[in-house]
Amino acid sequence: MHVMVPTKNPRLYIHEVSVRDGFQIEPEFIPTEQKVALVNALSRTGVAKIEVTSFTSPKAIPGLADAEAVMGRIDRVLGVQYAALVPNVRGCERALACQVDEVNVVMSASQSHNVANLRMTPEQSLGQFADIAKLVDSKAFLNASLSTAFGCPFEGQVPLSRVLEMIDRFSDIGIEGVTLCDTTGVGNPRQVMEVCLAVQDRWPAMVFTAHFHDTRGMGLANALAALQAGIVRFDASLGGLGGCPFAPGASGNVCTEDLVHMFEAMGCDTGVDLDGLLDLARLLPDIVKHGVPGQVAKAGPSTRRYPLPAGQDDAGQTAGAFCS
Ligand code: COA
Ligand code: ZN
Repeated sequence: MHVMVPTKNPRLYIHEVSVRDGFQIEPEFIPTEQKVALVNALSRTGVAKIEVTSFTSPKAIPGLADAEAVMGRIDRVLGVQYAALVPNVRGCERALACQVDEVNVVMSASQSHNVANLRMTPEQSLGQFADIAKLVDSKAFLNASLSTAFGCPFEGQVPLSRVLEMIDRFSDIGIEGVTLCDTTGVGNPRQVMEVCLAVQDRWPAMVFTAHFHDTRGMGLANALAALQAGIVRFDASLGGLGGCPFAPGASGNVCTEDLVHMFEAMGCDTGVDLDGLLDLARLLPDIVKHGVPGQVAKAGPSTRRYPLPAGQDDAGQTAGAFCS
């Protein structure tokens, strides 16, 4: 396989999804004011986009039943896009009434996950999207998140041809951006590169985003593969929270601060203040009342330096015994 390495460091765009993908799966309802405070703090870290909530059925996703209240109370920072996930026309009407910057419609590449998650066949979802496109009509950016694009927890492999077929349909409808979602963290870097190269080759004007889950420890490797394939937009979740309640075995998204740390260490410009993000990530366990998977918030960034052990000088000579 031909592996491309960016010749110059591209500007990357980080989309924070913890308040939607993260909080939708939390067993305890996160109070509205805590969601608003987190969105407001995230708005000041330099992330390009925040997926604030989803306008779904409160019976399906009780944790985000306060979508209108959250959207209505956040302070919007110029330059940050405020998006919401939308499963159907009703959700789109609610999102537009809240003046979202982006309507992010969602459906799965695989039939069985679409039915489990949205109680619709893919064709029914596409029918909803066509009506949504008419409703949106330039009032917001129209993006589609394609779940299970790298594999399905029920059907297994999802062929590239299926992903291309779905994006053809999105393109016909007038959808402007597509997020390729690895809902249950089954994609591998080689596959990610193949898919990302193929979709950009076929639709050069479409705005593509990569959305990985770290369920099997491949999240950062997949993000790197996507970057090498030319993707510059990444969904990620503070602390590595996240997961779809209707996908067995789903777990957290690739962790925002770990992703930003990796990209910045490579010399890429994410526009994000890593220290500010780390301060926020350290607040998360108190908000969700459990530990979170993110690693850099625990270890500190790779630039962290420790004081020399007592008795050791700068030349590395120790006064006592040597360790091997
Ligand atoms: N917002 C609020 N309520 C909605 C809604 C929306 N977007 N869409 C439907 N509803 C309500 C209906 O009014 C109805 O309410 P009622 O029982 O009080 O009469 C109820 O939900 C069921 O409506 P129906 O059209 O039969 O939907 P459904 O039960 O087949 O569910 C979805 C379809 C898409 C609404 C639901 O499966 C859903 O919200 N899924 C979201 C999944 C998700 O977010 N997953 C994680 C992210 S990938
Ligand atoms: Zn996700």
